[in-house]
Amino acid sequence: MQKIKTIGILTTGGDASGMNAAIRAVVRTAIFNGLKVYGIKRGFRGLIDGEIEELGAQSVSGIINRGGTILKTIRCPEFKEKKNQKIAVENIKCFGIDALVVIGGNGSLAGGGALYYDWKIPVVNIPASIDNDLPYNDYTIGFDTAVNTALEAIDKIRDTATSHDRVFVVEVMGRDNGLIALEVALASGAEAVLIPEIKPDLKKVCELLDKGHRRGKHSSIIIVAEGVMSGYEAAKQIRKMTTGLEVRVSVLGYMQRGGSPTAFSRAIAARLGEKAVEVLLEGKYGKMVGVIGKDLIATDIKKVLRTKKTIDISDYQLVGVLSS
Ligand code: F6P
Repeated sequence: MQKIKTIGILTTGGDASGMNAAIRAVVRTAIFNGLKVYGIKRGFRGLIDGEIEELGAQSVSGIINRGGTILKTIRCPEFKEKKNQKIAVENIKCFGIDALVVIGGNGSLAGGGALYYDWKIPVVNIPASIDNDLPYNDYTIGFDTAVNTALEAIDKIRDTATSHDRVFVVEVMGRDNGLIALEVALASGAEAVLIPEIKPDLKKVCELLDKGHRRGKHSSIIIVAEGVMSGYEAAKQIRKMTTGLEVRVSVLGYMQRGGSPTAFSRAIAARLGEKAVEVLLEGKYGKMVGVIGKDLIATDIKKVLRTKKTIDISDYQLVGVLSS
């Protein structure tokens, strides 16, 4: 097995707060172990374009508390094309990069997997996405920050909702899964949550709202994951199906992606960043590192790609129990 002396690092897909902390952890761990590190700009696009430059220990100073990613990121569908992968591999070789650390969500796994399985490039993925939708891992980098950002906004919305005796529909991110919505609903004391995994029953939600109103409830918050329907559509239907309730909408949108990472997002980034370099140095390639409970693990990318992370149905039921 060829000894790894130089690694490349990139961030790809939707940015997630804590990516910078992960970059810092990877760069510093690699340098500590005597490796040279190249930063690749704009995810897989930078690999194709050769937008690659060396990173020293100081180039990651002062970034642990910053949202976004200093390496920039992009969604890069063209990386699915073999001709572009070939150019990327040529650039990897040209810069003398022996292994790659790919930080990101689902798309980054697919790209990392292609480089490892089809082109034999040693790759390790680090799960970073606000969606928390990667299996074999409890928490993606950025999820906790996104949830706390949404929570801060919802606490404020609750104040105005209570003052006006209003119902608020709050739309949060989550195109394909309701993990953010569910966590936020539990933490904010929302009256109901609509998630893509469970067919929405707006009739039931409206009955709950009317019942609450009759017994003098002063505010209600309904969390909707964007993948179910828009907050505006949900509000329109709720207005039609309830009696005389004032309904307003707040779409939290991209604020969930930015901002300074929470302690939890930073600490997970530090641990996963170190683990990724360790895994490469042990000669284990084609893995995604993850955290399960207190354990750091490394799982084959193929296995991660084949598995869908599921929601905990008891969390969904708990939102209903606590709102009654
Ligand atoms: O994957 C993270 C995420 O923020 C999703 O929750 C959201 O649906 C999507 O990205 C939006 O992506 P884009 O900014 O590329 O439209």
